[in-house]
Amino acid sequence: MTHAPHFPADFAWGVATSAFQIEGAAYEDGKGPSIWDKFCEDPTNIKDQSDGLIACDHYHRYSEDVEIIASLGLDTYRFSMAWARVQPDGKGAWNEAGFAFYDRLIGALQEKNIAAHLTLYHWDLPQALQEEGGWLSRDTAYHFAEYAREVARRFGHRVASIATHNEPWCTANLGHGNAQFAPGVADAKSAIQVSHHLLLSHGLAMTAMREVGSPAPLGIVLNQWTADPATDTQADRDMAELEYACSVQWFMDPIFKGHYPELALRAHGDKAPIIYPGDLQVIHQKIDFLGVNYYFRAFCSAENPPRSAPAVQGITDMGWEIYPQGLTELLLALHAEYQLPPIYITENGMASADHLEHGKIADEQRIAYVRDHLAALAAAMQQGVDVRGYFLWSLLDNFEWNSGYSKRFGIVHVEYATQQRTLKDSAMWYRDYCQQQRGVQPLLVAR
Ligand code: FCB
Repeated sequence: MTHAPHFPADFAWGVATSAFQIEGAAYEDGKGPSIWDKFCEDPTNIKDQSDGLIACDHYHRYSEDVEIIASLGLDTYRFSMAWARVQPDGKGAWNEAGFAFYDRLIGALQEKNIAAHLTLYHWDLPQALQEEGGWLSRDTAYHFAEYAREVARRFGHRVASIATHNEPWCTANLGHGNAQFAPGVADAKSAIQVSHHLLLSHGLAMTAMREVGSPAPLGIVLNQWTADPATDTQADRDMAELEYACSVQWFMDPIFKGHYPELALRAHGDKAPIIYPGDLQVIHQKIDFLGVNYYFRAFCSAENPPRSAPAVQGITDMGWEIYPQGLTELLLALHAEYQLPPIYITENGMASADHLEHGKIADEQRIAYVRDHLAALAAAMQQGVDVRGYFLWSLLDNFEWNSGYSKRFGIVHVEYATQQRTLKDSAMWYRDYCQQQRGVQPLLVAR
């Protein structure tokens, strides 16, 4: 990859975070517990037995963090709101002190001319709702819509976009399918029912936010991958087709086509979700943008033991195959199959075992990862996919869910004992890359 691609001049360059992973202040100013607070109370759930009580202390250090974003010359920031901070029980009374935090954060971003992209739900359900059944209960979808309505009413005119969910696939499958994530349920049928309730809640929230006339574009963020057969055997090809149907199409088809993919429904058999009449109409409504999170592809091998991915470009500290061309292939496949709204790459990045040495973190592997994924993104745009922005995951090293603080995804290093932030080499590289992009003539005509 010798020449950097040229992105449109108005392309948004940003970084992404989520509330539970950085905020800390778990019980401050009236915040209620979330399912992740609860999940961390059992130390066997988190690899390093850590929790989100302090995390990056962003709740108190948000202005320093906004300064860092500004100092990198970035014009866009994606963050999530902790539902239990603004509505401790997930229904009923609002917590004004919680809203005041997001008011300060958005204000600080506005002051620096940084567009704020807000996600309503990045996995931290109020624990009070979990005790009433959580996402397995249809009622949660209706409570979520009321939360969305209130946020859109208060902030819809001050943010650049509102996404309902982040990666509902994870909430369903890791939270309810294999218990890796909160709330720690391992039951395939529940996971599938939860995925339907998440989609329903997305649709209900879209309607509620439209009702209050939110001027911010509204959408959803999905984690997606291509599914490649490991070999050319029928078994591997069937496996790949089913994997794509159960992950990407399972969420895309209801939103863009108004039905679940036949192949996946058949495979789910008696685990297929209970769907009420009218649900799919609620889910199937226009969205203003689609957020795509891309980290790796699915490599599908029906052999026992399965073949592992070739990982020609290496693997990350998470053990994920580095496969940039999968981003091009994914976007082209989506573009061919669906009538897409504008896309944002709402997450992309890698964990590496970074070391702070003499005040410096030399994370060349991350630089190469981001550079190659941006080239892959540009290739898709050149072939007609309308992508409006890129958010690197993540601004800061943070609480990486069940891996705790043992995995570092930030372009800014966090020394947790002191909360000292240090720019990694990748942060400086990204700053220069984005700056250079703004200076070059756009060659891409994707719209
Ligand atoms: C995504 C999550 C994000 C972060 C990255 C590494 O699945 O949305 O919170 O954990 O993975």
